[in-house]
Amino acid sequence: MRVNGQSVDLAAAADALGVKVDEVAGTRLLDVLRDGLGLTGAKEGCGMGECGSCTVLVDGRAVCSCLVLQGQVTDADVETVEGLADRGGADLQEAFVRRQAVQCGYCIPGVLMSCAALLERVPEPTDDDIRGALDGNLCRCTGYNRFHDAVHDVARGRCAGAS
Ligand code: FES
Ligand code: FES
Repeated sequence: MRVNGQSVDLAAAADALGVKVDEVAGTRLLDVLRDGLGLTGAKEGCGMGECGSCTVLVDGRAVCSCLVLQGQVTDADVETVEGLADRGGADLQEAFVRRQAVQCGYCIPGVLMSCAALLERVPEPTDDDIRGALDGNLCRCTGYNRFHDAVHDVARGRCAGAS
């Protein structure tokens, strides 16, 4: 598997996880990222696919990394919030800051990845599109409106930049 464009050294990840290399495949992707690779952006909330704080992209699709085993993504491109700026998502992160769309911040890495996947799929998303994309991301702080403002800002900026 590749993470943020780099091939993963599974032996090193296994060492960090304290497991044998052939056990990495049966380890949750969330644990491989956080404990094996030190990429702690994706957060564990519920651990059962309900909160979205662990959201990462697998081949461009937003998925809950707590529900995926490493062995299911052995040939996939995995992207985490740590790689978002390098893949052209700095404007999204800046818009979240500008719009003050962050409070405690726990949900934000997952929210950003869901929004990044949406903007790639739908360059000018409607509020319904944004609501749909964030259906699986729970935020107890912000009320979501500022997420929408930030995504609309990015969509406008990218469309203006493309014209
Ligand atoms: S920790 Fe994965 S969905 Fe909640
Ligand atoms: S900013 Fe606190 S849970 Fe979303």
